[in-house]
Amino acid sequence: MPALTAIRGFKDILPKEADLWREVEEKARQVLSRFDFSELRPPIMERTELFQRTIGAATDIVEKEMYTMEDRGGDLITLRPEATAGMVRALIEHNLHEGGRATKLFCLGPMFRYERPQKGRLRQFHQLDVEIFSDAGPHSDAEIIVLLRSFLAELGLPNLSIVLNSLGCPTCRPLYRDNLVAFLANRKNKLCPDCQRRLELNPLRVLDCKSETCQAEVKAAPSFSQFWCPACREHFEAVLQALTGLGLDHQLDERLVRGLDYYTRTTFEVRSGDLGSQSALAGGGRYDGLCRELGGPDLPAIGFAAGLERIIILLNQLKGDPAPGPDYYAALLTPEALSPAFALVQALRSQGLRVAVDWEAGGLKSRLKRADKAGAAKVIMIGPDELASGLVKVRDLRTKEQVSLPLNKPEEF
Ligand code: HAM
Repeated sequence: MPALTAIRGFKDILPKEADLWREVEEKARQVLSRFDFSELRPPIMERTELFQRTIGAATDIVEKEMYTMEDRGGDLITLRPEATAGMVRALIEHNLHEGGRATKLFCLGPMFRYERPQKGRLRQFHQLDVEIFSDAGPHSDAEIIVLLRSFLAELGLPNLSIVLNSLGCPTCRPLYRDNLVAFLANRKNKLCPDCQRRLELNPLRVLDCKSETCQAEVKAAPSFSQFWCPACREHFEAVLQALTGLGLDHQLDERLVRGLDYYTRTTFEVRSGDLGSQSALAGGGRYDGLCRELGGPDLPAIGFAAGLERIIILLNQLKGDPAPGPDYYAALLTPEALSPAFALVQALRSQGLRVAVDWEAGGLKSRLKRADKAGAAKVIMIGPDELASGLVKVRDLRTKEQVSLPLNKPEEF
C-alpha cells in the first residue's frame, strides 16, 4: 500500500525549519509589545455566515476558496480564510472595545483557502494579523504601517515596497463605482469572463485583475483620486504626510483594491521584488463600517495581515539554511557510562545548554558520526578510561580542539 502524504497545499513545517518560524513569531511579539498590542486567539472555525457577511459574498475567497462543511448538528461552518472577521466577532462578543482607549489586538495562526498551490501560495498558510479598533484618525493608519515596516525591517528583509491607495467611503465610493461601471460597460466584451461577472457584482476588482487584456482595458479607467470626498482626501493626505515625515518610502497605486469587501479609505500592501508572482508579503486597510454591519458598535478599525510563509521564503533566500544544532552531543562509549552521563546531561541542560544524546552505548566512530549529523558544536566522550579518571574528553567539532573536563563538575562545561 502506498504511504499516505499530506493534503495538497498543506505543508509540514519540519524540525529544521521550525527555528526560523519561532524567530519570526518572536520578532512579531517583540515589535507588537513595543506598540502596545495584546494577543487574541480566536478559534480557527467560525460560522460560514460570518465570512459571507464580512469578506463579501461576491469575492473570490467566499465564492471559490472557503473550506466549508456542515457539522453533525447541521450548522454550516468554515475554516477561517483570514482572521479579521473572527477578531471583530470576538471583539463584539466580549466587549473588548470598552475602556475608552483604542483596542489593539493581534493573532498568529493558520488560515485556509482553496487556492491553486504554487511558490508562496498554500491552502493552509499562516498569518500575523494585527488590528486597531476605535481610532478613526490618520495616525493609526500610519502607525500600523510603521509597525509592519519595523517588523519586516528588523527581520532583515530588503527590497520591500509599500503601496497605498484610498478606497473612499460610503459617500464617495458609489460615485466612483458608477463612473467605473460606465467606463467598463463599453469594454465588457474585451474583459475576461471573470471580470464580465465582476462588472455586475464587484466592479472595483476588475482594476486589479491579473489578465493582460483586462489590464490593458483598465489603463484609461477613471482614477479613484478624482472622486475622493474632501474628508477622505484629507484623511489620506494626512496618512501620507505622517509616513513621509518618518522618512518611510511609499508609492500610491490607484489600482490597489484588495480582495475583501470590507475596506474603506486607506488600503495598503507591502511587496517584495524577490518573491516572484506572489509578491505581497502583507496587506491591509481601514474597515470603518464592519463592526456596525456585524451588529456591534460603530467602531472605526484598521489592520493588516502578513503571510508568514512568504516571509520565511525570503529569509531562507537571504540566510541559506543555517539551523544551528545542539551545544553538545554526549557520546556514550560503554554501557557503564549511562548513569553518570544521565546526571551530567540533565545538569548541563539545567544550565541552559542544548544537549543531544542517544541512550545506548556505541563505538567512537559511530557516535562521532551521529554528533556530526545532529550538527552539534562539541562532543562529550564518555568511555571506560573517562569513567576511571573522572575526566571526560570534550572535542570541538569545528576546530578539532580537545580538552578534558571533570565529569562531576557540569559548571565547568
Ligand atoms: P490578504 O491580502 O487576503 O488580507 O492576506 C494577507 C497576506 O496573507 C497576503 O499578503 C499574503 O502574504 C498572505 N496570504 C494570503 N493568501 C495566501 C496563501 N494562499 N498562501 C500563502 N500566503 C497567503 C487579509 O487576509 C486581511 N484579513 C488583512 C487585514 C487585516 N485587513 C485588515 N485587517
